[in-house]
Amino acid sequence: MTMTDTPRLDEAALEQFVHQAVGDLAAAISGLMVHLGDRLGLYRALAGAGRLTPSALAARTGTQERYVQEWLANQAAGGFVGYHPEDGTFELSAEHALVLADETSPVFLGGAFETIASCFTDHDAFVRAFSTGEGIGWGDHDDRLYTGALRLFRPGYEANLVSSWLPALDGVVEKLQGGASVVDVGCGLGASTIIMARAFEHSSFVGYDIHGPSIDAARASAIEVGVERRTRFEVAPALDFPGTGFDLACMFDCLHDMGDPVGAARRVRESLADDGTLLLVEPAAGERLEDNLNPVSRLYYGLSTVICTPSSRAQEVGLGLGAQAGPRRLEDVLNQAGFSHVRVATRTPFNLIIEARP
Ligand SMILES: C[S@@+](CC[C@H](N)C(=O)[O-])C[C@H]1O[C@@H](n2cnc3c(N)ncnc32)[C@H](O)[C@@H]1O
Repeated sequence: MTMTDTPRLDEAALEQFVHQAVGDLAAAISGLMVHLGDRLGLYRALAGAGRLTPSALAARTGTQERYVQEWLANQAAGGFVGYHPEDGTFELSAEHALVLADETSPVFLGGAFETIASCFTDHDAFVRAFSTGEGIGWGDHDDRLYTGALRLFRPGYEANLVSSWLPALDGVVEKLQGGASVVDVGCGLGASTIIMARAFEHSSFVGYDIHGPSIDAARASAIEVGVERRTRFEVAPALDFPGTGFDLACMFDCLHDMGDPVGAARRVRESLADDGTLLLVEPAAGERLEDNLNPVSRLYYGLSTVICTPSSRAQEVGLGLGAQAGPRRLEDVLNQAGFSHVRVATRTPFNLIIEARP
């Protein structure tokens, strides 16, 4: 081949990839549409309402019919809502309502779309970070990251934490029932802390996070739910939070966001009672990139590129573990921090649940 030759193209491969990319293009704009439907209450109004015309949906949501009509057309083209051409009505099935309208459902995804919407607002900061290599602090994002992350993670915690993750740990539920002392490190808006506090009335819970507004929101939620007597939320870094003698320490989806995960896990180990346990929840991942070439990892790698890795790089050490570290790398971090017994206690399609003991 000379310098002027162009490589012979595989036309079928080209066509196939254009189809794939156009599918993603449509999904990208539909992501914005889903977030609109979520914010404006369009899905909630459609849920259980049967067939609605655009004008009926607009009336129920205080929105403008012409916009709603166009939005519904996008939703029908994407298969999110059903369309009945005979009378021009649209319908959200019960199954789709669980994913789009019902915040209490374990498969609700509105929070994930909200999280991704925040990333488009922060796009310029990501471009700068790629050029400079600098981090972006957890607190330096569009506000929808925090509410989005809460709504993204909470359904999974509601569905699994008390019913399956805690029971997968050796002897922990018995301690919680009897009255245990629990620390939730990197607690964010406190969803996990509050769920545990609701379930175990004889135990006491403290949640620490570096993000002040998240801690304020966690305190307000605890009051709203009526668990403020057995919960406390304070701003404190994982490397240096107060307290010792905890029976259970938890780290939900935050270790990889930290600059020094080994140092943070070491502080957690020091804070535990001799027979204490660390519950570490991290995004599900295989060991190697080639094990992770699937849609869930694709999502996590994307979020990790613009949220988790920059968060870590904005902190001391700046390890940048990433959201797809996988079980062996996480075990290595925990071993370095002084945990000698580490095992994957259980898993879901989205989470690895790891038990670690000193
Ligand atoms: C993805 S959010 C998860 C929040 C919460 N655990 C949950 O599952 O909803 C990650 C959290 O880690 C917190 N974080 C990051 N670095 C931290 C550090 N060094 N010390 C304490 N918290 C930290 C962030 O402020 C953020 O609230």
